[in-house]
Amino acid sequence: MSFSLKVNGKTVTVDVPPDMPLLWVLRDVLELKGTKYGCGVAQCGACTVHLKGVPVRSCSIPISALQGTEITTIEGLSAQGTHPVQQAWQEVDVPQCGYCQAGQIMSAAALLKQKPHPSDADIDAAMTGNLCRCATYNRIRKAIHRAADIGAAPSAKPAAKPADEDAQQMETTR
Ligand code: FES
Ligand code: FES
Repeated sequence: MSFSLKVNGKTVTVDVPPDMPLLWVLRDVLELKGTKYGCGVAQCGACTVHLKGVPVRSCSIPISALQGTEITTIEGLSAQGTHPVQQAWQEVDVPQCGYCQAGQIMSAAALLKQKPHPSDADIDAAMTGNLCRCATYNRIRKAIHRAADIGAAPSAKPAAKPADEDAQQMETTR
């Protein structure tokens, strides 16, 4: 069955079973491997992406529920990896094994979009569903505060270039 959605600013059409979770579509069909599989049952946060700017667990949303919707993955957070959260993550040297970190970053970016200067309690509440087996939680909290300092309230919008390409595509299909 054919489904159309906007991923990182680009309109894509995929031909997959309607019950295929978004995570499989992203990784196996669209080759966007930054989003990780952890538990498969919405319990760990490794698969977090933005659905219209809101963090969601892509392992637990069937593609049939996403017709025409806007998805942002870690690859679309910024064109050059310069989103304030990504900068802060590098400065603070957050990752250990790294496996959970794309999901952590996506949740942090969504939090900062809503609350540009979150308290520790805000951070703990927003990040509680993102598990890290390496226990990088203290560095995650520090990096979120650093991202807030870096400034620009992080945006869940896709990178500028794909958005421009999409605008061009719209122009040519009118
Ligand atoms: S893989 Fe989706 S929440 Fe764990
Ligand atoms: S950095 Fe290893 S699981 Fe989080």
